[in-house]
Amino acid sequence: MTATLWRNARLATLAGPEPWGWVERGALLADGRQLQWVGDDAALPAGLQADEEIDLGGALVTPGLVDCHTHLVYGGQRAREFELRLQGASYEQIARAGGGIRSTVAATRAASDAQLFASARERALALMREGVTTLEIKSGYGLSAEHEARCLRIARRLGRELPLTVRTTCLSAHALPPEFEGRADDYISAVCTWLPQLHAEGLIDAVDAFCESIAFSPAQTRRVFDAARHLGLPVKLHAEQLSDCGGAALAASYGALSCDHLEWLSAKGVGAMAASGSVAVLLPGAFYFLRETKLPPLQALRDADVPIALASDHNPGSSPGLSLLLMLNMACTFFRMTPEEALRGVTAHGARALGLHDRGTLAAGQRADFVAWDLDHPNELAYWFGRNPCRRVVAGGEERH
Ligand code: NIG
Ligand code: FE
Repeated sequence: MTATLWRNARLATLAGPEPWGWVERGALLADGRQLQWVGDDAALPAGLQADEEIDLGGALVTPGLVDCHTHLVYGGQRAREFELRLQGASYEQIARAGGGIRSTVAATRAASDAQLFASARERALALMREGVTTLEIKSGYGLSAEHEARCLRIARRLGRELPLTVRTTCLSAHALPPEFEGRADDYISAVCTWLPQLHAEGLIDAVDAFCESIAFSPAQTRRVFDAARHLGLPVKLHAEQLSDCGGAALAASYGALSCDHLEWLSAKGVGAMAASGSVAVLLPGAFYFLRETKLPPLQALRDADVPIALASDHNPGSSPGLSLLLMLNMACTFFRMTPEEALRGVTAHGARALGLHDRGTLAAGQRADFVAWDLDHPNELAYWFGRNPCRRVVAGGEERH
């Protein structure tokens, strides 16, 4: 293992009591994949040796970014649906008429493995260019045992072939596939039978569902969560996106890692999430693209000390963007998050939403995932948009090229 010392960095460690976990003249020492020491350059213990030293030229350094909610693997696109929405059709109307998620399911099933892999790889690379080092990818556009497995295998392959950590989430309870029309309970039974197979193949890190009037009911969600619990898999939920179905409180009662979207989250839901330690994942890209007006209850989440994460929610229907940095900007402008909250949302809190405790801050013992930015101050990460200030990325102790 080679020990590398990066010096002359201005660190936003997000650890410790200072705002941003700031260290003005910082250094990071990594032994292989792990950070062995992080702190003031002048305080580097004499006993710590590096095989190699790299001067970062005074660059701003943050933890690697975590995009904790994406639907990256799918076929086709839905630009026509966007046009229909601009003419007045609603997301729900399009879904009820058999478009929406179902149209992406048809395109995904029709695509070859090679096509799905190549398009998902391009999207992953776009996110990585802005400093993403950990990426969650959900299934949910296959909606059969065969096609869900195919999409999850492609997600796993991305994690093997790219310098990136990929976490996979099984979202088979995303929409009702056409072959189960009028038989939602039967579909949920089918999902519960294929979860053990997917898990046995090592394809799933967590289980998610879409609990909504246009998708699955709380009772159906509960059945999926029971199957996940039986396998020892953690759960997450698309909850309270378009209405208040009580999904967040339900997910919290299963100790959910996170509840995501949450525009319609009630006070009761906030309390349940606080009690279970679930992360609130806010998705400003979907809020923006669906032209929502109902804001998630940010102050109530803060008051209850619920950790707030942000993610791209990249998908072809409600959030076709590929910039996690843009989400920081939107979270501040739309949701009134602070730039520091936004950065914690795509680092420490994003990691926690995936059940990962070895990343998201810069401290000894954490993974050596970090980004050097062409910026003076970390508040600029939420300020610029449409500009990529990412200068260099280290993932698992290795510089990406
Ligand atoms: O997270 N809300 C449900 N699922 C996705 C959208 C899926 C789609 O429209 O294709 C979301 O926004
Ligand atoms: Fe989503």
